[in-house]
Amino acid sequence: MRIAMIGTGYVGLVSGACFADFGHVVTCVDKDAAKIQALQGGQMPIFEPELDRLVDANVRSSRLDFTTDLSRPVAEADAVFIAVGTPSRRGDGHADLGYVYAAAEEVARHVNGFTVVITKSTVPVGTGDEIERRIKRINASSDVAVASNPEFLREGAAIQDFKHPDRIVIGTEDERARGVLSEVYRPLYLNRAPIMFTGRRTAELIKYAGNAFLATKITFINEMADLAERVGADVQEVARGIGLDNRIGAKFLNAGPGFGGSCFPKDIRALIKTAQDFEAPLRIMESVINVNENRKRAMARKVASLFGGNLRGKTIGVLGLTFKPNTDDMRESPAIPIVVALQDLGAAVRAYDPVGMDQAREVMDGVEFCVDAYHCAEEADALVIVTEWEQFRALDLNRLKSVMACPAIVDLRNIYEPDVVRQQGFIYESVGRPMKAA
Ligand SMILES: NC(=O)c1ccc[n+]([C@@H]2O[C@H](COP(=O)([O-])OP(=O)(O)OC[C@H]3O[C@@H](n4cnc5c(N)ncnc54)[C@H](O)[C@@H]3O)[C@@H](O)[C@H]2O)c1
Repeated sequence: MRIAMIGTGYVGLVSGACFADFGHVVTCVDKDAAKIQALQGGQMPIFEPELDRLVDANVRSSRLDFTTDLSRPVAEADAVFIAVGTPSRRGDGHADLGYVYAAAEEVARHVNGFTVVITKSTVPVGTGDEIERRIKRINASSDVAVASNPEFLREGAAIQDFKHPDRIVIGTEDERARGVLSEVYRPLYLNRAPIMFTGRRTAELIKYAGNAFLATKITFINEMADLAERVGADVQEVARGIGLDNRIGAKFLNAGPGFGGSCFPKDIRALIKTAQDFEAPLRIMESVINVNENRKRAMARKVASLFGGNLRGKTIGVLGLTFKPNTDDMRESPAIPIVVALQDLGAAVRAYDPVGMDQAREVMDGVEFCVDAYHCAEEADALVIVTEWEQFRALDLNRLKSVMACPAIVDLRNIYEPDVVRQQGFIYESVGRPMKAA
């Protein structure tokens, strides 16, 4: 199959490289000339484990290339995937579909012969219908089927997720489109990845419903953590105790500082808007987004509570800035509002992240960026673990203590055993576990 991937971000680049690795011939297109130039020179624009090796191997085999000009790849393609961003629209939280429609309209001008145009971007229900209308308006004689194929990969494990998906969802009523997409995903089908064909609107809704459910699970355990703290219970054991029930499942039950990232917040806001437009409000999701928003500042207050409620004159070291480990993505990272709230409470903030420092510098003001975790701890009155990078799991506690002004750790990811840290002479607080001073 010949594939054109429009948009070469996290999803487009990973999907394009994996499709090439399946044996298809893929051209990844992006409007961002600097990004394309970097990729042509072998530089990855994002941090994603194993991605450089996969891209390099497929470029060498002539199955993968990069361009800013979609005319040739679209004209030659059997399948054109749209994987451009769908950020929150400024002001109202609806999904901004400007990039998607602009890409679809440009595609419409260049399609040649039967072509399946597939939205991989996360788009509200009905977007496929509108894409179809726009393509027909621009190129009435085109022979195009529009399908939905939402992407479920997780940053940080994106290649593994793409190649071993829990399921593939394809939304189309068109038999020929089914045939093309079956062929595109055939290698995964042979690996017995469940492939689900459904209506286009249903596929669009599946993506949002999935993210909404996961965000609800996180928010549920976070509220349970707050209650556990008050009543002297341990949320980790509560999570295990309920997670062993197969109807619930153990994943996504880690209490923490609240969800962030490039997908959950914006997708849930967009879903809430869609639901309101269709007069079927999603009250649970409205609560989820509110509870999650308020949680970030509450985490800063948790730090301040170690010092009587304010942080004036205190220095706080923040470990981990990206919204989760193994990515450099700072989009809606909980670290951003937490740092602002710490500053609002009077703190001077030092911070360190293993790969997200450049991205963090662009979105954080007044922060002293450090070269490693120990540098970050220097003269700090407390160290706050915000993102659970592997390298923070086994810090040399004695060394930390020797450089800190006050040996206090607020572990927002519960990566340490409270007793172990407290025995080393630290004040240690975490999330949803019995509070105790050293
Ligand atoms: N990041 C994830 O983990 C993830 C997972 C599943 C689904 N999604 C969804 O996939 C979509 C893309 O997300 P992302 O994180 O890859 O976004 P991104 O911002 O990393 O990448 C989007 C790319 O599209 C390019 N672009 C925009 N308009 C274009 C056009 N007309 N022609 C060519 N290129 C254009 C941009 O320059 C950018 O490089 C979103 O809808 C997102 O919700 C993301």
